[in-house]
Amino acid sequence: MIKQDRILAIDQGTTSTRSIVFDAKGQEISVARQEFPQYYPNQGWVEHDPEDIWRDAKTTAQEAVERSGGVDRIAAVGITNQRETIVVWDRATGKPIHNAIVWQDRRTARLCGELKKDGAEKLVTERTGLLLDPYFSATKLAWILDNVDGARARAEKGELAFGTIDCFLLWRLTGGKSHATDITNACRTLLFDIHRQQWDPDLLRLFRIPEALLPEVKDNSSIFGETTPDLFGRAVPVAGMAGDQQSAVVGQACFKPGTAKATYGTGCFVLLNTGDTPIVSRNRMLTTIAYRLNGKTAYALEGSIFVAGAAIKWLRDGLHLITHASQTDDMATRVPHSHGVYMVPGFVGLGAPHWDPDARGLICGLTLDATEAHIARAALESVAYQTLDLVAAMTQDGGGTAETLRIDGGMSANDWFCQFLADMLQARVERPKQLETTALGAAYLAGLGVGMWNSLDEIASEWERGALFEPEMDGTQRKTMIDGWHMAVRRTLTQR
Ligand code: G3P
Repeated sequence: MIKQDRILAIDQGTTSTRSIVFDAKGQEISVARQEFPQYYPNQGWVEHDPEDIWRDAKTTAQEAVERSGGVDRIAAVGITNQRETIVVWDRATGKPIHNAIVWQDRRTARLCGELKKDGAEKLVTERTGLLLDPYFSATKLAWILDNVDGARARAEKGELAFGTIDCFLLWRLTGGKSHATDITNACRTLLFDIHRQQWDPDLLRLFRIPEALLPEVKDNSSIFGETTPDLFGRAVPVAGMAGDQQSAVVGQACFKPGTAKATYGTGCFVLLNTGDTPIVSRNRMLTTIAYRLNGKTAYALEGSIFVAGAAIKWLRDGLHLITHASQTDDMATRVPHSHGVYMVPGFVGLGAPHWDPDARGLICGLTLDATEAHIARAALESVAYQTLDLVAAMTQDGGGTAETLRIDGGMSANDWFCQFLADMLQARVERPKQLETTALGAAYLAGLGVGMWNSLDEIASEWERGALFEPEMDGTQRKTMIDGWHMAVRRTLTQR
């Protein structure tokens, strides 16, 4: 009998889908990836076609399994996903009734504003640890129910299902047999009480969401269901699921309170493990669930920046300053400093700590001798400054000061950026050998679910450092630069 000692992880992100097969040491065996289209049907709206998402998840998963030598050694599947993005589908046909509304979508900014004016934010924050911002799922779901013909009535009759992307993929992978999500995805919907750990009836009423739409919520390592045999040639258990940022916490082995990671994907998300205590922020950070294993919950403080890698993508696709992201490393070193040029990448409003959905992007400090290199450098710097603002807020919140920040995601490959980040944070920045930490986290969760790994300690012992960056910059220079950044941010805010 062939030993089942490999895990397939599906990482469904905002702009691409990756499937990776890992071995029992967390080493990558094979990978397949696919970018997919983004739809911007209106100003500030962002949608995905759920059929694109399903097609790419399925084909990349099949390719990765094939390239790894076939399904025989695959013990389980893990899923990780862009969080907050929602799909509503017909339970009978499995067909979505509308495009997925993506986490970056701002169409419900007005509704959030009205609810805030009515004083609803206090209840929302107490129960969910989140804020009333269009970023989260609940108002997006209400929008679909109010704007798709007949949707609300059908939802009330139990004919429709709601899910974040993990849940939608699980439904499709299991041929409609499992309608479940994991606790880290549930806790981003604005409908889930993170203390009692259940869907909250008061919040369902507030956002007018029929309970019949909701999936079952499970621990991150659980048997969520089995893939239909036609997908890989035999049924494989789906044994781990987590939102991508929480999955990166696991992949980066941030298991001890006080450990933190920052993932630089489309956006950047800093999560600081606070152990079994949910810390309430005084600085508009989020309180969220890092993971729940065997019923035991670890909480995190989270700072969410909506635009990180997306700023570099904009330099490439919007401004055509570069043809490849890696060029920004050279451009940033070509000039001795940013020359007073700042970019505030508020393309989809600003997230933590400002939470201003109406703020927009800005480049300032331009003089006639400013060049494209200064703008590229300002884009990179803006991501480090934003990370600094998050880490400073978390420290003030009593989450502890992370002396080391573990980083991953696309921008962490840029050495210049990593050094600048260490300088701004005045902290050590560690980059792991395995940069696909999000997918790796999902593999670990699925592997824990089927007994391929037995403890978080065992997983932590596999983490390997690839590079270390230590602060070098002089304090006065640092302060001048940071003051300039804060002045630039103030110019973009609409809610002061
Ligand atoms: O909360 C949104 C986040 O999960 C998206 O992650 O990697 O696509 O930037 P990413």
